[in-house]
Amino acid sequence: MNILILGSGGRESAFAWKLSQSKKCGQLFIAPGNAGTGQYGTNVNITVTDFEGIKQLVLDKGINLVLVGPEEPLVKGVHDFFLADEQLKSIPVIGPQAEGAQLEGSKDFSKQFMERHNIPAATSKTFTRETLQEGIEYLPTIGLPIVLKADGLAAGKGVLICTTLQEAQAELTEMLANAKFGAASAKVVVEQFLQGIELSVFVLTDGNNYKILPSAKDYKRIGEGDTGLNTGGMGSVSPVPFADEVFLKKIEDRIIIPTIEGLKSENIPYKGFIFIGLMNCDGDPYMIEYNCRMGDPETESVLPRIESDFVELLLGVAEGNLNEKELIISNKVAATVMMVAGGYPGTYLKDRVMTGMENIRDSYVFHAGTYADGDEIKTSGGRVIAITSLQDDMFTALQQATADASRIYYDGMYFRKDIGFDLL
Ligand code: AMP
Ligand code: GLY
Repeated sequence: MNILILGSGGRESAFAWKLSQSKKCGQLFIAPGNAGTGQYGTNVNITVTDFEGIKQLVLDKGINLVLVGPEEPLVKGVHDFFLADEQLKSIPVIGPQAEGAQLEGSKDFSKQFMERHNIPAATSKTFTRETLQEGIEYLPTIGLPIVLKADGLAAGKGVLICTTLQEAQAELTEMLANAKFGAASAKVVVEQFLQGIELSVFVLTDGNNYKILPSAKDYKRIGEGDTGLNTGGMGSVSPVPFADEVFLKKIEDRIIIPTIEGLKSENIPYKGFIFIGLMNCDGDPYMIEYNCRMGDPETESVLPRIESDFVELLLGVAEGNLNEKELIISNKVAATVMMVAGGYPGTYLKDRVMTGMENIRDSYVFHAGTYADGDEIKTSGGRVIAITSLQDDMFTALQQATADASRIYYDGMYFRKDIGFDLL
């Protein structure tokens, strides 16, 4: 069967690598892709929200299945677009329809969903421009620090953690009265700060059955020791050592089952990934957020640990028989180091020639922000390339990924050398 992956990051490179290994995978297309995805299939220069362009591609190339990488096309209704089109409606899309994607697309929707289904999460309330004054009065009641979340998608920048009441008041006013994040902050969720260690768990569901994929931990700050500005993610490890069987069982019973059952009871169809962002608070899991897709760079650590045929699993989602599919997870440990462009996450260098990829010894290389320019590979994004090493133990995986990252060079190259070392 012919498969189309939508997206162009490290996550999509990892998907392309994994899907291309399946006997069931015929031609593989990636739109728009990057220099790495081009090694496993054919890149097509169509953006992920150009639904008409995607339709033409799907019809021209006889695509039988579409896997959506990022959230934006899902929240904008790419799956609904397929279902509403006579020629496309029989072609399965992996990723929820717009309604289910609200779990990520609206923080207010997701908080209310958690509340309705008794899923443990931080106490919160949602405010609008009209209720700003009530919001200001609510702030001192939840303790410091205070978490403010723009309701809509804000390119990962919509969450503010305010350490003083004055800061929280000013930011809440900025967001609601002055549209700090545009339409995304027309509503703001004001939330209690959860103390603990973060981790992510990924669920693949056909809307009825589910499989729990490997857990992962991502490192969001630019600087070593988790300092400096937030990024899309500077590295990840899988599994998460403290997410033992007892803790995972709590996550399944308290969060995963109520989520799947909640979607079912509300008649929200959902075929795809549910990314569960969690805080481990003294051994109990609390929800931070849902995403309607896989994480990046978590996917780069998660997929190498999945031994089963991933196309088979996606077919299980499409056909509603995921329960009949096998999910084998390797006991090995994966560590991913994200190499970024000089200046990232601010204004960053681009079009720098990358060298040294042939010197990588024992890691997978997943391109993120790269393009091929003749024989050369050049940088295009802030996150440039992910290096994942799969080894028998975490220390070796971390050491190998870090060592292999240092074998790649481009002007302004930077990566964190401390990914995962807090967990050893
Ligand atoms: P989100 O966009 O919801 O993932 O939030 C971004 C980041 O903010 C999360 O990955 C957490 O590190 C942090 N965060 C969000 N909500 C909370 C909370 N209630 N308590 C502590 N940290 C939080
Ligand atoms: N690494 C976090 C995310 O994909 O949202």
